[in-house]
Amino acid sequence: MKIPQQGLSAQDVMQQLNSYRQQDLNWRDGKTFSYIYDAGQEVENICKEAYLAFLTESGLDPLSFRSLLKLENDVASMAKNHLRGDDEVVGTFSSGGTESIILAVKAARDYARHERNITQAEIILPVTAHAAFFKAADYLGIKAITVDVNPETYKAETSKIAAAITENTVLLVGSAPSYAHGVIDPIAEIGQLALDRGILFHVDGCIGGFLLPFMRKMGVAVPDFDFTVPGVTSISMDFHKYAYVVKGASIVMYKNKNLRKYQFYACTDWTGYPVVNPTVQSSKSGGPVASAWATMNFLGENGYLDLARQLHEATQKFVAGVEKMPDLQVMGTPEMTLVAVKSDTINIFHVVDEMKVRGWHIQAQLAVGGHKENFHLTIQPSNVAKMDEMLVDLEESVRAVKELPLSPIPPQLQSLLGAVASGSVPLDNLGALLQNAGIQGDKLPERTAVINSLLNHLPCAIRTQILLNFFNEVFRSE
Ligand SMILES: Cc1ncc(COP(=O)(O)O)c(C=O)c1O
Repeated sequence: MKIPQQGLSAQDVMQQLNSYRQQDLNWRDGKTFSYIYDAGQEVENICKEAYLAFLTESGLDPLSFRSLLKLENDVASMAKNHLRGDDEVVGTFSSGGTESIILAVKAARDYARHERNITQAEIILPVTAHAAFFKAADYLGIKAITVDVNPETYKAETSKIAAAITENTVLLVGSAPSYAHGVIDPIAEIGQLALDRGILFHVDGCIGGFLLPFMRKMGVAVPDFDFTVPGVTSISMDFHKYAYVVKGASIVMYKNKNLRKYQFYACTDWTGYPVVNPTVQSSKSGGPVASAWATMNFLGENGYLDLARQLHEATQKFVAGVEKMPDLQVMGTPEMTLVAVKSDTINIFHVVDEMKVRGWHIQAQLAVGGHKENFHLTIQPSNVAKMDEMLVDLEESVRAVKELPLSPIPPQLQSLLGAVASGSVPLDNLGALLQNAGIQGDKLPERTAVINSLLNHLPCAIRTQILLNFFNEVFRSE
């Protein structure tokens, strides 16, 4: 595409833009179990109205845009109360879970550098910690040390974390809950370990930090995971998940200002204006923070409680339904609204495909470190009314899959797979494998069980390389 010589009419621009949406996932039908947190039209409307009202304001300088400073301070104050922080607790609004996590890891690295003289920082990650921590370690030049989780509960094991601590450990990490299996790590135990060893401890509440307190208020047994737990020094919590705010809204909270200051960045060594950035982003729109402020004020505690009740019931219904299907097993005991399902008898990736044929979008998760491949649901409000229909289709899908081979990998691909896994095919020459698996350019085939099964068989380093190569092709500038 080239910038047109003569601009188009506003109507033509919008028509063209909207036409591009035709191939998008149709999430408005309530049959999508990831990406989207849809609390209905009214909530979407207020989100958008507030977003649009502040879209054009700049978050680069909070002293020039006092409205944005006020909104951020209000949002941080709501988050502090929600996570039961004392008067010392402070936060920073960010663009999403990944940014909040990168900021918390940076703060831990720089705190350790300045206050403990650690220059070769390490963080300890249960294998179930979100990829954002691995990314943060990669970006920030920190060593990520992975520890396994309990093979039955999928929760982090404090003894394994303790054994991995070295004199360079700057941060321990626990999830409340983890994305993949929806279980809460033993936060109180890890907090005690962190206190005993004088190490910072981040709780990843990106997906659960907002919803879990409402579930506790409903009477569900939710273990303490917030600032009431001794040893917890920072928490990330996303508004663009279960607070139902549009994308670009999260917060990272710290036990006190002395910790948070290591997250900030300032530069006066250049010829331009003095830069002080609390976040990774510098110039940023005021839309997301206004949207977060508006949505929380619009729904209120009662609105969120009502949605939490519906989600809890729908999750219980799904788990009970799966437990009646002998070919499927729920992994661990889901403690919120995230469920992973595996099978010992059928290929779970075929189930994902069969569900897609029936209009459902569910995520495939690959096997890692001996933990089996599975499919994952993030249950959100628009799924609630669809749960009975979904269970009927799931049962039918399992029946259909039983007619299919356990391994969908055709024989010619088996030998190529062996060659790739043993390293005898150069990593940047993996196009043949993908083409044989049905990938055409940037288009995935309708059924993805072959691709998922191939990736599932390969070591993580090779999978990663294949995916990087593929996405490097997907983004083009033709
Ligand atoms: C537990 C957890 N942490 C971090 C993230 C990353 O959040 P984001 O996708 O907003 O960057 C997610 C996203 O699902 C998550 O579930």
